[in-house]
Amino acid sequence: MKHLLKLSDLSTEEIFGILNLADQLKYERKNNIRHHHLEGKKLGMIFQKSSTRTRVSFEVGMYELGGYALFLSDRDLQIGRGEPIKDTVRVLSRYLDGIMIRTFAQQDVEDLAAYGSIPIINGLTDYCHPCQVLADLMTIREYKGSLKGLKLCFVGDGNNMANSLIVGGLKTGMEVSVACPDHYRPDADILARGFATGRLTVTSDIKAAAKDADVLYTDVWASMGQEAEKAEREKVFRSYCVDSDLLSVAKPDAMVLHCLPAHRGEEITDEVFESHATEIFDEAENRLHAQKAVLVKLLK
Ligand code: CP
Ligand code: NVA
Repeated sequence: MKHLLKLSDLSTEEIFGILNLADQLKYERKNNIRHHHLEGKKLGMIFQKSSTRTRVSFEVGMYELGGYALFLSDRDLQIGRGEPIKDTVRVLSRYLDGIMIRTFAQQDVEDLAAYGSIPIINGLTDYCHPCQVLADLMTIREYKGSLKGLKLCFVGDGNNMANSLIVGGLKTGMEVSVACPDHYRPDADILARGFATGRLTVTSDIKAAAKDADVLYTDVWASMGQEAEKAEREKVFRSYCVDSDLLSVAKPDAMVLHCLPAHRGEEITDEVFESHATEIFDEAENRLHAQKAVLVKLLK
């Protein structure tokens, strides 16, 4: 594994290798066991979109591993004034040991890997969010003991989260169901590969998708960059809400997860969010542990 550009680039063994290391790093942190695997290493973090969790967990993660993280906003970088990404990365490769980037086009992340000479980590694009899903898989395994055979149901927009959950869920042996409006389905290449496993279903019927689910997952109706579509999306997605009525068709011990930030009263009710807050915030904490594992695998 040289980069983390998207989950489909990883084997099942590589995914479980990250999850196992993440569990170990979480244990070491809790027990104050020093784990300075990246002493002296430097990570650049390029942000072309906002972030709370990704920024803070990567920065704290590098610190806890004995390394250093630089926050690079595109408002300050020359990228914001048009310097090509393929030039930027050839320069940054001379200073840094790795780059995490949050941006719009997946192609920009692929270009960083193609033109640079250091590991590249995708911290979210319009296409996928692999770091989030590694933390999600870690959290589900913590609560359920194992992943194989569980039913993971995603409710809402067929966006970056839906894409990565399909890939990550199927690669780790889960069944995945997606409930989304017909014109907001996940990306066609992800669906084609998913349907070939025989363990993916996509429907606009949210109760059919959620039936007997072990995990219900949702995300915002309008992602970063789709602000202009917000009003239209509020109409289209009105019925795509994780509420207690939907939860009643899932397994009685079903988990509810959300990558955050959440919009209560839209994709999830306040009641469901608060009654599953422990697992949702464990999920957010696990961003730190899962990303530290990715950093160790790529930068050590
Ligand atoms: N879930 C997630 O990636 O959060 P941020 O946008 O705050 O980084
Ligand atoms: N789909 C959301 C995820 C945020 C973590 C977005 O792209 O804005």
